[in-house]
Amino acid sequence: MSKSSFPFLCLIITLSVTGGIVNGNETKVNIYELKRGDFSFKATNYGARMVSLILPDKNGKPVDVVLGFDSLKAYLNDAQYFGPVSGRVANRIKNAQFTLNGVVYHLDKNIGNNSIHGGFKGFSKVIWTVQKYVKDGPNPFIVFHYNSYDGEGGYPGSLSVTATYTLLQSYKLSLTMRAKALNKVTPVSLTTHSYWNLGGHNSGNILSDEVQIFATRYLPTDNQIIPTGKIAPVRGTPYDFLKFRQVGSRIANVKPGYDTYYIFDAYNAKKKNALILAAIVKNNKKTGIGMKVFSSAPGMQFYTANYVINITGKGGYVYQPHCAYTFEGMGYPDAVNRPYFPSVFINPGQVYAQDMLYEFQVSKKY
Ligand SMILES: *[C@@H]1O[C@H](CO)[C@@H](O)[C@H](O)[C@H]1NC(C)=O
Ligand SMILES: *[C@@H]1O[C@H](CO)[C@@H](O)[C@H](O)[C@H]1NC(C)=O
Ligand SMILES: *[C@@H]1O[C@H](CO)[C@@H](O)[C@H](O)[C@H]1NC(C)=O
Repeated sequence: MSKSSFPFLCLIITLSVTGGIVNGNETKVNIYELKRGDFSFKATNYGARMVSLILPDKNGKPVDVVLGFDSLKAYLNDAQYFGPVSGRVANRIKNAQFTLNGVVYHLDKNIGNNSIHGGFKGFSKVIWTVQKYVKDGPNPFIVFHYNSYDGEGGYPGSLSVTATYTLLQSYKLSLTMRAKALNKVTPVSLTTHSYWNLGGHNSGNILSDEVQIFATRYLPTDNQIIPTGKIAPVRGTPYDFLKFRQVGSRIANVKPGYDTYYIFDAYNAKKKNALILAAIVKNNKKTGIGMKVFSSAPGMQFYTANYVINITGKGGYVYQPHCAYTFEGMGYPDAVNRPYFPSVFINPGQVYAQDMLYEFQVSKKY
């Protein structure tokens, strides 16, 4: 066995041995690969997580640009949300509660006195079922499905959720998320919490990568990273990425790093589901790989892995702060408690939609 194939086999074996019971269905946790020529993607139905995304660098060498783990055990212990679809409501909710029609809903307090990413389990620590899986051909795809029960994490009403990953021509990864409220009004705001490093998952920090974010406004936060309720201009602040800037150029002024919600200038509430260009990462100097991020959400959380400390990832590589960035299209954080933020509530029968598209280019110039 060649050295390079070992981590892959190891992953399959360790992830597939542990099964589980979901709604009376016996469900195994597994790894599913999508492959389109030299572009390949792996996901697991544990949390509908991205596990890897491999494409050739400027010299044709395969590079994995997604951070993750080699074993299910590591994913079970993951407190930093490596790669999942986060929900029912992504990001933080102040005091882990909200009021709807006079009823106070108490959510899981899983970060201090606040709630994050749906609570203790959320959608990232449950087993999803695989509805459809086409592993190759022109547009390989996989559909994960999860039925969230009434009261899960404290949220009202049952919710039927799907997350579909598709590989499109020349290095595009699409993620479409849908959620249908089955019986009650409920808040929904889904995202993907994938950690990216275009130099390769094991290449150190991303501080010298140049990023552009198409947002003239952001949400200032308090000391618990909850929006204060203000909407502020980025101009003149370290949050300004309107022109390409190195991620590390002003990171010392936003210690311990970026964990910031940006409001997209191009978002138009009347054009629901329209993908807009949210951010660009310029071609990485080492690999020549660049990335465009598209989202249909009104904004996104930009996070620089500030709390990733001493975490042993794939191949035994140890991830440290600023080893990756996330681009998490989602509704405004704490919108459930801010009536003047765009609403994240949906009615019974209504379908919530949020799409992301990650497009990679490889250039020999870098
Ligand atoms: C198994 O899962 C499917 C899809 O999630 C669901 O429709 C079905 O009711 C489940 N089966 C049982 C026995 O609960
Ligand atoms: C949570 O709230 C309680 C009661 O108000 C308070 O004593 C405690 O310090 C809070 N914890 C954190 C981490 O803020
Ligand atoms: C990380 O590992 C280093 C070296 O082993 C150790 O000194 C440090 O205390 C660790 N930090 C945390 C937060 O675990």
